[in-house]
Amino acid sequence: MIVEFIKSASMKDGFINDSRKKIVMVGRSNVGKSSLINAVANNGSPARVSSSPGKTTTVNYYMAGKGKAYFIDLPGYGYAKAEKKEKARWAVMMDEFFRHLDPETALGALVVDIRHKPMDSDVQMARCFKDFGLPFFVAGNKCDKLKPREIAPAVALIKETLGVEDVVPFSAITVSGKKALLKQMGLL
Ligand code: GTP
Ligand code: MG
Repeated sequence: MIVEFIKSASMKDGFINDSRKKIVMVGRSNVGKSSLINAVANNGSPARVSSSPGKTTTVNYYMAGKGKAYFIDLPGYGYAKAEKKEKARWAVMMDEFFRHLDPETALGALVVDIRHKPMDSDVQMARCFKDFGLPFFVAGNKCDKLKPREIAPAVALIKETLGVEDVVPFSAITVSGKKALLKQMGLL
């Protein structure tokens, strides 16, 4: 699938509000939200990634599949070393973003690191999706870091902690789980 960068925005005037489907990447900093976008792209790596957390700092829009849907890459939460001012900017931007998001057009992709039990912030995020009536699914990224037999128990722990029925094991490095991911996104 072709994935093309469209624009970055940090204020409500810049947020896209059309009727096209919007797949929104949310999750802790460094879990691989931007990498996941690159992994499903067949045209190189349109999203910027970094080994240090806090890489994505604005709301980034990508067009996926020549108009099928937007991928929206958000800055991650839980980056403990971020400055107070930066954390406050993030909170305001996220609040504005979700307030301007039409649940009719949106699908949340909650990305977690499959190796770890989801943190309180992830549980809160899942609760927010439920409270706002926003459909979402969970991707357990970095499954290349686990042995095959470790995947099922890791998935079970994530399901139980987040109170969700499905978790897609995925690897942005090996692209394992890509088909299941695209299916969840409604892009297959
Ligand atoms: P923020 O923009 O800070 O919120 O981070 P992010 O969630 O967008 O993470 P990003 O995609 O920048 O990736 C963070 C680091 O994790 C990079 O070093 C990636 O190479 C690595 N990474 C991402 N996905 C995978 C994966 O599936 N497996 C492994 N082993 N590493 C991964
Ligand atoms: Mg990022």
